[in-house]
Amino acid sequence: MKVCVVGSGGREHALAWVLARSAEVVVTPGNPGIPGSVQTPPEDVAADLFVIGPEAPLVEGLADRLRARGALVFGPGADGARLEGSKAWMKDVLAAADVPTARHGAFRDVEPAVQFLKSLAPPYVVKTDGLAAGKGVLVTESLSDAADDVRAKLAGEAFGDAGRTVVVEEGLTGAELSLLAICDGARAVPLAPAQDFKRVRDGDTGPNTGGMGAYSPVVMATDDVVGEVMTRAVEPTLHELRRRGVDYRGVLYAGLMLTPDGPKVLEYNVRLGDPEAEVVLPRLAADCDLAELLAEAASGRLRRAPAFRPEAAVTVVLASEGYPERPRTGDVIDGVDAAAAESDTVVFCAGVGADAEGRLVTAGGRVLDVTAFGPTVGAARERAYRAVGRISWRGMHHRSDIALAAGKARPGGGPDGKDGV
Ligand code: AMP
Ligand code: GLY
Repeated sequence: MKVCVVGSGGREHALAWVLARSAEVVVTPGNPGIPGSVQTPPEDVAADLFVIGPEAPLVEGLADRLRARGALVFGPGADGARLEGSKAWMKDVLAAADVPTARHGAFRDVEPAVQFLKSLAPPYVVKTDGLAAGKGVLVTESLSDAADDVRAKLAGEAFGDAGRTVVVEEGLTGAELSLLAICDGARAVPLAPAQDFKRVRDGDTGPNTGGMGAYSPVVMATDDVVGEVMTRAVEPTLHELRRRGVDYRGVLYAGLMLTPDGPKVLEYNVRLGDPEAEVVLPRLAADCDLAELLAEAASGRLRRAPAFRPEAAVTVVLASEGYPERPRTGDVIDGVDAAAAESDTVVFCAGVGADAEGRLVTAGGRVLDVTAFGPTVGAARERAYRAVGRISWRGMHHRSDIALAAGKARPGGGPDGKDGV
């Protein structure tokens, strides 16, 4: 099978790496660190299966255009991608499907939004309606900061058109979990749960980012939790989408908060998480053919649930100077080969370019994802950081506490390498 992966980041590198176990893979546009990268637009690539990585092309209808040409595509059309493209629409679908989520309201005017804020207890959450690359969310204890943020977002100062509607919601507390499901329009099967780290600095401080690291499996994501998320969130959502005429074939990514009242959906994304993909996909069992699985989903004929290796995976994101506010680009990256030569380690290239001499240089905010495997989260984490120590460029930064608590945890005194699925 020939598979065309659309996108250029670490998630697409991980997709290509795992797909290449069983398929011929090209990545468009990819980047100089991803083997098989081609500059041909997806519409001009001949492939048996297209896998669209990022949300932006999904929201603007690339899957529809490819399907209109008769291609087999894994990724929702623009109708389903609205789940991520509009948080207000997503909340409407959640309410119709009776999926547990935070109390919320969607507003185009400041006054009613501020009135609604006043009816909530802190912490307050203010979100831009449209795509904001994981950076359009404010969580704050301060009512006046929340009200100021509503004004700034509605004025469109921060995110342009993405800010013209705001969603205001109650702040939930609990551990966060990412559960990604493969959907074929009617059925869904879960991937192994993962946890990511959204804040830029250690101890979950600093601004939100797209994600600074991730690990899988997650001990608290027991079979019961996964089952509850599937039956209370993912399946009713797919059902509601079908009721609205949406044939959703792709990943439904539930961003969850495990609250004292049970799991609640914070957000849906319509793609694999990044960096969650970099730990979840490599954990697929050796006999699980990812190309077959995604082709089955794309053709509406999912037949099997994927199996995962018991080994844990941890990924640490290496970011460029100034990320997330103003990432600097063009710095020469040293040590990728040495890092990749460490045992049980793989380096996925995200915001990577090449200079005139062919050297890898930084070309975005999140530059590399260093993933390592081990019998436990703790062991995988140690390997990942050993490999990180081999890499450097001017202004490189990363978190040093990715999977730290999970790596130490030994619930029930047993090993923490338990598979969550
Ligand atoms: P989102 O893009 O909606 O996932 O939000 C990004 C991050 O903001 C989440 O991963 C949470 O850490 C935080 N967040 C979003 N919604 C809430 C909420 N209702 N309560 C508490 N934290 C939230
Ligand atoms: N890691 C969070 C996301 O992909 O949205």
